[in-house]
This record gives sequence, structure tokens and C-alpha cells, in this order.
Amino acid sequence: MVSPERTGYDSYSLRPKFLSEYIGQENIKERLKLAIQASKMRGEQLDHILLAGPPGLGKTTLATIIANELNANIHVTSGPILEKQGDLAAILTNLEAGDVLFIDEIHRMNRNVEEILYSAMEDFQVDIMIGKGPAARSIRVELQPFTLIGATTRSGLLTSPLRNRFGMIFEMNFYTQEELKMIITRAAEVMGTLIDDDAALSIAKRSRGTPRIAIRLLKRVRDLSTVRGSENITLNIVEEVMRLLGVDEFGLDEMDRKILKTIIEIYKGGPVGLKSLAASLGITEDTISEVYEPFLVQSGFIARGARGRIATEKAYKYLGYNTLPGGLFDGFGNIE
Ligand code: ADE
Repeated sequence: MVSPERTGYDSYSLRPKFLSEYIGQENIKERLKLAIQASKMRGEQLDHILLAGPPGLGKTTLATIIANELNANIHVTSGPILEKQGDLAAILTNLEAGDVLFIDEIHRMNRNVEEILYSAMEDFQVDIMIGKGPAARSIRVELQPFTLIGATTRSGLLTSPLRNRFGMIFEMNFYTQEELKMIITRAAEVMGTLIDDDAALSIAKRSRGTPRIAIRLLKRVRDLSTVRGSENITLNIVEEVMRLLGVDEFGLDEMDRKILKTIIEIYKGGPVGLKSLAASLGITEDTISEVYEPFLVQSGFIARGARGRIATEKAYKYLGYNTLPGGLFDGFGNIE
């Protein structure tokens, strides 16, 4: 491990450790604070929590914060690496009273494995099969009370028996520019760098509502600032780095533009199904629907209908087209 002296800052401290340091997601914070306080007052285990939302919004950070607020240990695993029932049973039976178990990408858990979670969540017990064939038998193992925190890119991807066992389901939203600006300024401070207000806002605008992207862009901007020997990160430095990275003022990058162009040029503006789009772009359907699409939909470049994805007028204008497939713009968002 690289020591904090070598990096100049402890990269872990970039992540807030307590709810009071966490910026944004106000409604979720309020509901969490209440649930944590009540469980402490009653001396009961905190209910299981599902965190849903696009990648990079802070689901893992929030899980760590919940464990810190509870003064509990956190065990971290993820859906796809739990291949067999035994993998999950081993983790569950090793939990101590009050522990938090965080399962990232919980929607990608094998159905077989998922089934042992049901009784673990509901009754703190698991039934484990020992042996195979006629000699197989099942033994019941009691577990210590624990809180499961599941993370998923969309709550709709979970089976209903699993979703129903969560006491709280939090749908995380994209962050506002003002929140991202605060996150960037705080992170710069932790890195020991000063950043001008307009520079922080410019990064915020290009961060697609996502703190992970904001921090990544900040780090690249900080590199140029260091090399230039600049005392502060300035707007000029931000704009120069963004040109270099191909990130425009909407936060769209090369792949976003390629997606929009493909819908418009190959599929005549859509509607196009996810499968066809993924094949044309050479990326997976999951990458489109979980990484790129949520922001393109949220910011109005793509509309999603029953028959597939459609490029909106905003997308045509953004890419510099003067006409929609059906005709000229009438200036009111309609086609003449
Ligand atoms: N760093 C990354 N995400 C953050 C958040 N939501 N609040 C504060 N700092 C952060």
C-alpha cells in the first residue's frame, strides 16, 4: 500500500465517513438518520437496506457510512463472485452480532445463491445442504443478527422475493450542480489543492450528476495544475483539460456522441432496440443501459419508449443537424 506521505493525501479520506459529511441525497440521509437513531434507541438490528441507482452515485460510500454510524464492522462482497450457496453461507455464518454485510451488484447474484438469503434476511438462519444424492441432508444454522445492504443499478432488476425482504429501498438520484460543486471543493481541500469557484462549477457541469466522475475529472485537472505550477486550479486549466479529454460542457464524451450519432445515422433517429444498438456500437447492452443511457435520458438527449430508444430534437441540435428525419425544426420542439 502506498503511504499517505507518498500520495500527498489518503485517498480513502476522499470518501466521507459519516452522514454529516455526506453531501446530497437529502431525503435518503434524513430517512437513514431516523432509522439508525430508532434502532439504536430500541437496541434492535437496523432493517435491511437496498440502495439503487446508476454507478458512481455513492452506494458503497453510503454503505460504509451506515456501518460507521452503527459502530459496526462491514463485510463487502458482490453478487457475481458468489457462485455457490456455500460461498454466501460461509460469509453469513462468520458474521458477528450487529455486523453489516454489503453485497454490491446484488441483482447479478445466482438465483440458487439468492435463495439462501431469504431465510437469512427474514429469520437470521440458513439451511445448508450437506452431501449429494440420496445421502444429502439439510442442516439449519442460526446466524447472528446483521444488516444486509444491497446495491443495484436498478431496483427493478431484483426478483420480487428478494426486493420484498428489504425494509428500506432508497432510489438514489443524480446530484445537482451545486452539490457536485461542493463535493469537488471538499475533495480538492482533502487533496491539499485550492480550486476557484468558477473552475469547480465548470467541472460540476461536466460530471453527469455523478460524484465519481467529478472526482475523476478533478484529479486530471489537478495534474495539469501541478505541472503548470499553478497555485489554484483555474477555469482556464479546467477548460484545457476538458478539451484534451473530449468532455464537453454537457459532460458528454466520445461514446455518448457515438451513441447519439448511431441512433440518428444508422437507425434514422430510432426507435432502436438495445440489442441492435449494442451490436452497432460494439459495447454490451448493460453498459449502454446502466452507464450511458441514464444520463442521456435524464438530460433529454434520448427518449425511451416501448419500441426502443429515440434521439430527441435536443440530440439533433447538439450534434449540429439542421433537420429531423421528418422535416425542419419549427422552433417549438416539433417537426414541421
Ligand atoms: N465524495 C464523493 N461523494 C461524496 C458525497 N456525496 N459527499 C461528500 N463527499 C463525497
